[in-house]
Parts: sequence; C-alpha cells; structure tokens
Amino acid sequence: MLFVLIAPVSSTVSAFSLHPSALCNTQARIERGLARLIVLAPLTRNRSYGHVPQPHAAVYYSQRTTKGGLLIAEATGISDTAQGIVLAPLTRNRSYNNVPQPHAAVYYSQRATKGGLLIAEATGVSDTAQGYPHTPGIWTKEHVEAWKPIVDAVHQKGGVFFLQMWHVGRVSTYDFQPNGQAPVSSTDKGVTPSLEGVEWSPPRRLRKDEVPGIVNDFRLAARNAIEAGFDGVEIHGANGYLIEQFLKDQVNDRTDEYGGSLENRCRFALEIVEALANEIGSHRVGIRLSPYSDFMEAIDSDPDALGLYMANALNKFNIQYLHMIEPRVVGARVLQGPEDEIPHRLLPMRKAFKNTFIAAGGYNRSKGNRAIADDYADLIAFGRLFLANPDLPRRYELDAPLNKYNRSTFYISDPVVGYTDYPFLEEA
Ligand SMILES: Cc1cc2nc3c(=O)[nH]c(=O)nc-3n(C[C@H](O)[C@H](O)[C@H](O)COP(=O)(O)O)c2cc1C
Ligand SMILES: *[C@@H]1O[C@H](CO)[C@@H](O)[C@H](O)[C@H]1NC(C)=O
Ligand SMILES: *[C@@H]1O[C@H](CO)[C@@H](O)[C@H](O)[C@H]1NC(C)=O
Ligand SMILES: *[C@@H]1O[C@H](CO)[C@@H](O)[C@H](O)[C@H]1NC(C)=O
Ligand SMILES: *[C@@H]1O[C@H](CO)[C@@H](O)[C@H](O)[C@H]1NC(C)=O
Repeated sequence: MLFVLIAPVSSTVSAFSLHPSALCNTQARIERGLARLIVLAPLTRNRSYGHVPQPHAAVYYSQRTTKGGLLIAEATGISDTAQGIVLAPLTRNRSYNNVPQPHAAVYYSQRATKGGLLIAEATGVSDTAQGYPHTPGIWTKEHVEAWKPIVDAVHQKGGVFFLQMWHVGRVSTYDFQPNGQAPVSSTDKGVTPSLEGVEWSPPRRLRKDEVPGIVNDFRLAARNAIEAGFDGVEIHGANGYLIEQFLKDQVNDRTDEYGGSLENRCRFALEIVEALANEIGSHRVGIRLSPYSDFMEAIDSDPDALGLYMANALNKFNIQYLHMIEPRVVGARVLQGPEDEIPHRLLPMRKAFKNTFIAAGGYNRSKGNRAIADDYADLIAFGRLFLANPDLPRRYELDAPLNKYNRSTFYISDPVVGYTDYPFLEEA
C-alpha cells in the first residue's frame, strides 16, 4: 500500500498503521488536530526536524484547510478519500454454515476506499464461539481460504481491513455448541430465555484452568486472520458477549482471580490482548468495548470506571486502537432522546488511551464532524448508515443525501437483498 507517514514510525508500526505512538505528545496532538482538517493524500514532507512537528506545518496545513469534511490526514495513515470514516462491525448472517461467501467480497469492496478502515463482522474464534445462524468463522482452514478472496477484494481498492474476533459465551444455545453441550461463560447464570426471541440455553461456568484454552482460541484465530490477509483484528469486547461476561460486575460472579475486583474482571480481556499482541504484533490489534450497554443483560454498576480502567490498562500493550461505543447505543439500537446530545462520556477514556481512539454509535455526518473537530475521537465508526450507503465517504464529502436503511433486511440470509443492493450515489 501507498501510505507514507509524515511522523516518525517505530519499527513495529507498518505502512497501514493508523497511529504511530510517537505522535502522542501535546505538540503532536495540536498538529494532528490541524492535519485532520484537510483533505490531502498522505505526503511525507521531511520538514519535522528531529521528528518534531514544526510551526511552519501549521501554515502549510491551514493553507489547505477546507470546511466541513469529516477528515483525517497523513499522520494517522488514513488517507484522503476515507476521511476518517470507519465501517463498524456489522453481523449480516449470510455466511452459510459459518463459511464466508463470495457475496461478502462484493459487499465489503463496495464499501472500501483507499486508506479507509473496514471492520469485518463478528467472526467466531472456535466451535464454541457461535450463537446465531450463518455467522462466519475463522477457526478452520476452510474459513481461512474462504476469507482470502474477500480480503483481496478490499485490498484491491486500497482498503484497510480488520476482522472482529468473537466469542458469544452464554449468548448461545445447545444447537450451536459441539455435541449439544452447554455454552461457556464466566458464570452459570443464563440470559433470560426468550430475550430477543431466543430460548438461550443455561451456560456452564468456565473453570479457571480452562480460561487459557479460550485465550489460545483467540490467538489461533488471530493468526488465521493474518493468514487470510487481514491487516489486523479487533477483539470483540462489547455487546454482552463472552469478554463482557467477564468484564461486567452484574454478570461475573466468580471468586477466583477472574472475578471480583475491576482488575480481576479485566484480566481475561487483557490476557487476550497480550496473547494477540505477541502473536501478530500490537499494531495489528484493536479492541471494541461498550461499558454502558445493557445488551444481553450484561451490565456494569460503574461503567465510567470500567471504561477508564481498560483504557489505561491497554496502554501497556501499545495496541493500534480502542473502539468505544457511546452510551446512547444498546446493541444494534440507538436509544431515543439522548441520541441528539453532544457526546461526552467517552472523553476520559479518549484522553487516557494513547493510540487511535474510535467512537461509534448514533453518529451522522454533522455529529461526526463535531466529534472530530472537538478532538473527542480520531475516527468515527458508522454502522447502519454505512450499511445502507456503500459510498458513504463520498456522500459525506459531497454532503449528498443518504439512502435510508431497511431494518427488516439487516439479518436475512439473502446474498443480495438488503446487502449489496443499496444504490450508489449516481444510481440513487
Ligand atoms: C445489522 C447490525 C449488525 C451488527 N453487528 C455487530 C457486530 O457484529 N459486532 C459489533 O460489535 N457490533 C455490531 N453491531 C453494532 C454496530 O457496530 C454499531 O455499534 C451500532 O449499529 C450503532 O452504530 P450506528 O448508530 O452507526 O449504527 C451491529 C449493528 C447492526 C445494525
Ligand atoms: C523524505 O522522506 C522520504 C520517505 O519518508 C524519502 O523517500 C526521501 O528520500 C526523503 N527526502 C529527503 C530529501 O531526505
Ligand atoms: C444528525 O443528527 C442530528 C440529530 O440527531 C440532526 O440534528 C442533524 O441534522 C443530523 N445531521 C445530518 C447531516 O443528517
Ligand atoms: C424493506 O425490505 C422489505 C423486504 O425486502 C420490503 O418488503 C420493504 O418494502 C422494504 N421497506 C422499504 C421502506 O423499502
Ligand atoms: C443475526 O445475528 C444477529 C446477531 O448480531 C442476531 O441479533 C439476529 O437475530 C440474527 N438473525 C437471525 C435471522 O437469526
């Protein structure tokens, strides 16, 4: 890929990096703030003496500043056309028998732009990780081979592609488990049967000596993702699934070193982060968290503290990004009312975390612009709007009208309808 970074690049940061950690001083933040306001392909200018951004760069960038775009610049490696717009991970239930299908290559490449980050849908790390029909896997050779042409299609358009690594834990039923066994979790407490219309099966609490095996499943899956060609992986630590079943104090009722204190509840997540950073490189690892969500009855009594603890703890591993979901979002639903408020709850986490910070949930163009201009986040992930607008970055650039999403086709298994048939701007 073509990106050159204007900032000094440490040896662990490769060309598709989102955020060289060397940029993390105040001067660099000011610089990044300015740089973010331009639409300009990444251009190394060799004028940051001793790797320190200089005042003359303010003149250079402000000369090139335009109004209104949701933008990101060369310092992060996210290039002009992508404008800092990220495709949020979206489960689409179209990977028959857990095998990614050729139609996914069409879907993702429709949404790919040069330098734009796409996060692929939640993908099971093992045969105990699944809880919904036709969601993809990454634990067999067949899965890896099936992902390859999909990843290729995105790379052909210059996109940056991360795979979301998923274990549903107790959000599952016997039908999805090998030999019809009980789903595994941090706890024996099940999700209330019939919640979201499914008869969830009672889970079995993982023994302490089984936890390393699950961490290892994530590690192997991450290695598989890299073998399939992905640029990196996002650990799914959100929306009530296995990792959140450990993180949150209203679910986790363990008395061993994986339960009780905040430190203990976060141990499992951080062990996965560490294992993946060691396996594939910290610059290829991101994590998604939703401390405020109560989706699938995963609730924490102090989400501010949980989010902040994780933001600080993650710094130790120097991972590529932290992707946080706004309190206004529960699972795939945005709550009424507070949707319009100016988001602020994530700010302490944004400030604490030293690498790229992605915010998601209930954003549109103007709210995204505002968040970027306020330095509230580096990048904004869009879910439903990107689902319904394959050319969302272009539409944002032109401030063009958007297609409306059709909720009734979010999760149908058709290879086209509600998936690759949303029109591009010129066809709309
Ligand atoms: C169809 C659909 C599928 C989703 N699947 C996932 C998923 O696989 N992983 C995940 O972390 N979040 C998933 N979400 C949540 C979205 O990533 C996002 O957080 C949510 O839609 C709010 O963002 P938005 O307002 O931009 O849509 C899904 C949401 C929708 C609508
Ligand atoms: C400026 O940096 C680029 C790559 O970062 C390098 O290829 C080029 O040779 C440098 N130019 C000078 C004059 O040092
Ligand atoms: C974004 O949403 C807010 C309220 O939720 C609305 O006021 C604003 O007009 C929207 N912006 C765009 C570009 O649709
Ligand atoms: C949504 O999709 C369904 C199924 O294809 C279709 O019947 C319905 O008309 C669509 N709704 C809108 C508003 O387009
Ligand atoms: C598809 O998967 C999602 C999980 O994100 C789930 O909520 C939804 O009910 C599933 N759809 C079907 C038809 O099973």
